[in-house]
Amino acid sequence: MATASATLLKSSPVLDKSEWVKGQSIRQPSVSAVRGHPTAAPSALTIRASSYADELVKTAKTVASPGRGILAMDESNATCGKRLASIGLENTEANRQAYRTLLVSAPGLGQYISGSILFEETLYQSTTDGKKMVDVLVEQNIVPGIKVDKGLVPLPGSNQESWCQGLDGLASRSAAYYQQGARFAKWRTVVSIPNGPSALAVKEAAWGLARYAAITQDNGLVPIVEPEILLDGEHGIDRTFEVAQKVWAEVFYYLAENNVMFEGILLKPSMVTPGAECKEKATPQQVAEYTLKLLHRRIPPAVPGIMFLSGGQSEVEATLNLNAMNQSPNPWHVSFSYARALQNTCLKTWGGRPENVKAAQETLLVRAKANSLAQLGKYTGEGESEEAKKGMFVKGYVY
Ligand code: 13P
Repeated sequence: MATASATLLKSSPVLDKSEWVKGQSIRQPSVSAVRGHPTAAPSALTIRASSYADELVKTAKTVASPGRGILAMDESNATCGKRLASIGLENTEANRQAYRTLLVSAPGLGQYISGSILFEETLYQSTTDGKKMVDVLVEQNIVPGIKVDKGLVPLPGSNQESWCQGLDGLASRSAAYYQQGARFAKWRTVVSIPNGPSALAVKEAAWGLARYAAITQDNGLVPIVEPEILLDGEHGIDRTFEVAQKVWAEVFYYLAENNVMFEGILLKPSMVTPGAECKEKATPQQVAEYTLKLLHRRIPPAVPGIMFLSGGQSEVEATLNLNAMNQSPNPWHVSFSYARALQNTCLKTWGGRPENVKAAQETLLVRAKANSLAQLGKYTGEGESEEAKKGMFVKGYVY
């Protein structure tokens, strides 16, 4: 099983056999070993680079390559079940496998997609014709990634906010995911504007993201840092901007405290928009102006890529907003890591019918290409379907 992956990974842009073998055999002394025991280092302030440092930079750059972005297909089994229910399918392993096979094997997907985030089940799963999903991605020149958080639970002592679980056992899970072929990770936590956000919830979100980032880097995975500021609420765009400034200030404070290497991370922010229930809507130009202002104020240029989530925007809206942000050069690669805004029309077109697989793959490619053009600032919005213009916001959405 690992052998097939290893052979394929050899030809991948980010990996070679020696790196692959390294992941399976003897581990080098790591950053955490030095961090945890200051006496082992020449000075308590000396931080040795992770044994994976060069590879992390290479992986991050590959994912953040021009005209490409991430296909997020890491819905948990429960969320995937909701997607399947929307087209009248049962939430069985076979149905999830059929849908994910359709996605990863869309011909030529790698022209527009540089990375794909998987749920654990998919990382270890085979396609319906018996190839490992991971191998199909690598053949398509797509870097496999893995959702490593364990989901959100209520945060006691807060204003009915939540915190993200998953640090326990994360080092060993990350090492196993690396062996299975994953090269980047995702951890999604959320911040709610209508519920505060309380100082406690922001601090917890930022600290959790930073610990996660340090642990995954230590095990060869590029962390995607995702503090999603939920769309829920009636607030205007200025309030979102204010909260986003606070959240990103804390996230970078704790990333630095945890000695995370900024060149080896990717970010997954929400765009700065008005709340979903706000009466005043914002144009793509306004969203771009606010979001870029936020990024310039808070994100160091050492970070290679900003891969936005879609958060309930319609497919077309998410593409238009991304395009508006790429009308002039940015210090970072500004791209997409969409789930709903890449998959919605594709899922509906498929409808669970084998005879629709080809048409569904074509719709996925249409969206992937549109976002690829938007990454290059060249999307025109012509010829989009009505389905692609439908918003997907769900109040209190859980991913
Ligand atoms: P959406 O693009 O549907 O908001 O998903 C984002 C996400 O975190 C999936 O990895």
